[in-house]
Amino acid sequence: MTDSAKTPETSKSEPSEKRFLRALRREVVDRPPFWFMRQAGRYLPEYQAIRARSKNFLEFCYNPAMATEVTLQPVHRFGMDAAIIFSDILVIPDALGQKVAFEPGRGPVLEPIGEAKDLSPFDAEKQKAYLAPVYEALRLTKAALPPETALIGFAGAPWTIAAYMIEGGSSRDFEKLKAFAYGRPAAFAAIIDMLVEAVAAHLIAQVEAGAEALQLFDSWAGVLPEPQFQRWCVAPAAMIVRKVKAVHPDVPIIGFPNRAGALYGMYASESGIDAMSIDATVPLDWARDSLQPRVVLQGNLDPMMLVTGGEAMKADARRILAALAKGPFIFNLGHGVPQITPPSHVAELSALLQNWQPT
Ligand code: CP3
Repeated sequence: MTDSAKTPETSKSEPSEKRFLRALRREVVDRPPFWFMRQAGRYLPEYQAIRARSKNFLEFCYNPAMATEVTLQPVHRFGMDAAIIFSDILVIPDALGQKVAFEPGRGPVLEPIGEAKDLSPFDAEKQKAYLAPVYEALRLTKAALPPETALIGFAGAPWTIAAYMIEGGSSRDFEKLKAFAYGRPAAFAAIIDMLVEAVAAHLIAQVEAGAEALQLFDSWAGVLPEPQFQRWCVAPAAMIVRKVKAVHPDVPIIGFPNRAGALYGMYASESGIDAMSIDATVPLDWARDSLQPRVVLQGNLDPMMLVTGGEAMKADARRILAALAKGPFIFNLGHGVPQITPPSHVAELSALLQNWQPT
């Protein structure tokens, strides 16, 4: 039987037939695959129930059984085409030996570092042992996922991880981070270089544990002027892509330089990523004409549309599908699912996407 003669039913269990992976390889699919950033999280009562069993968020992330269960929850409820492993971008500074805590109502709190030498040198074996529970969660999830659902591994990008490491938490203006990067670029480069190594090693280990695609989250890419964006976001992403592809040439990598505006173009051309997630402010005609010829696009419903629900949400989802679904495209939000999202809205949007037909 030839590939084209296979029915979806008979080819369902072949990983290469997963809709999400096919779209990432630019193959023609019956409808755009979808998943939602932060699809596992506090908007789900079943997440809250498991989360309540663990006082400490990192402990929860490092519990493979719990991480597996919450990774599967949204897939079981809504039938997304991909699951993203439940973990956090801040496991990297934690594994590097920096103190990381999550405080209710405050988000992450880190003991800020001043120099690369405040950390011990990167040790790949040590990191792999420290993050073993993440890899175990990937193995357990892979075994339990429906055969048509793909598994995504992820990491924070060096610039965004460095932002938390240097600011000591979330920030509005990134004064400490920018003063460091602009004023002492050689010392800052030592931190970014270490993070390139750490992130590449973490992504490679996730592929070995069963991840079929990877996403690199650069949540704070959008605060930099062009030359700094090139140096601290695009160049490190390109190095990470090279390192991962040297070991796993076929694994698709999605980059998310959040809020990069017109600089999304540079990221698409120069980072070497296969797909790019775009935030909700990106104009769709420009994305279709200037970005989609270069990379598979993923995005970009405003998360607040999901919170709003109803006709406003559906009309905006259809607007995005009409503009981007003719090219290689994965439907997602422009950022993570907000905590205040009614799960019924996620169900409504999922049904729209599952039943969508091009006109
Ligand atoms: O469902 C998924 O998408 C998988 C899990 C996931 C989490 N964090 C779980 C989480 C993913 C992919 C992340 C990525 C992440 N973490 C990013 C990049 C994406 C983005 O949002 O820009 C960033 C910047 C972080 C750092 C981080 N982790 C912050 C700022 C916070 C606090 C925010 C908050 O809502 O309190 C976290 C904690 C966190 N990570 C939670 C979850 C579900 C909430 C903690 C809890 O349940 O108590």
